[in-house]
Amino acid sequence: MACRVLVTGSADGLGLLAARRLIAQGHRVVLHARSPARAQEAMAAAPGAQAALVADLSRLEEVRGLAEAANASGPFDAVIHNAGVYRAPGQEVLTVNTLAPYVLTCLVRARRLVYVSSGMHRSAHPDLRRLASEEASYAESKFYLVLLAKAVARRWPQVYANAVNPGWVPTKMGGPGAPDDLEEGVRTQVWLATSCDPQARVSGQYFHHMRQAPYHPRANDVALQEAFLAVCARLTGVPFPDA
Ligand SMILES: NC(=O)c1ccc[n+]([C@@H]2O[C@H](COP(=O)([O-])OP(=O)(O)OC[C@H]3O[C@@H](n4cnc5c(N)ncnc54)[C@H](OP(=O)(O)O)[C@@H]3O)[C@@H](O)[C@H]2O)c1
Repeated sequence: MACRVLVTGSADGLGLLAARRLIAQGHRVVLHARSPARAQEAMAAAPGAQAALVADLSRLEEVRGLAEAANASGPFDAVIHNAGVYRAPGQEVLTVNTLAPYVLTCLVRARRLVYVSSGMHRSAHPDLRRLASEEASYAESKFYLVLLAKAVARRWPQVYANAVNPGWVPTKMGGPGAPDDLEEGVRTQVWLATSCDPQARVSGQYFHHMRQAPYHPRANDVALQEAFLAVCARLTGVPFPDA
């Protein structure tokens, strides 16, 4: 069955590859890029995409605008929360990697939500006081995506929300020497977003290369999940909706 999928950060890297693979499989894909110029490049790089929406995810007002534009374009079956930054100031890392996916999760409803996390999340020392002061390391920001997937899975039983570690792959972020396979790095996101396979129709799981994998145990802490949602709601002005 053809699905309609929004892929954030799809002008390059894993997001662009996911978009291309989805289109090749017959799905309807809406791209997202940081600027009109990047959106044009994304449309040229992923022929067959329905549209490319524009928002700089480091600016929360633009993230809210992206949600409005996405909803105005029609309903989505899945959202792949792929956009991310690695080397950037702590506030930008937090906003792009954690707060933007949180806001889009709240405002763009879809049956399947895929959060592109990282194996590095397992080294995080989550500290909600740092979160509250709008700071996060890359590892923390990716831990929060696993925590968000867990919280969504628990609060919204009708939604499949899962996190993915794509491996260390040779994109702009991963660098040319990254050892893992790029195609393998995108397969799981596409599968979780669209497959009828029972193993893909699960929620609150963390995947690496199509298999459930061990993750930071604190992601299971329900009190931490709730406190995280409350801090995100305060920082963004967007409350987490009921199911
Ligand atoms: N590569 C790896 O080894 C690796 C490992 C673990 C996890 N990941 C995760 O995988 C995801 C994809 O990364 P990648 O390797 O494909 O990196 P990438 O090639 O650098 O692509 C990142 C994407 O996010 C977009 N983006 C970044 N900041 C943005 C902003 N402020 N507003 C809008 N879009 C923004 C980029 O847009 P521009 O192209 O315009 O900058 C690009 O499309 C990320 O979440 C990353 O953390 C990657």
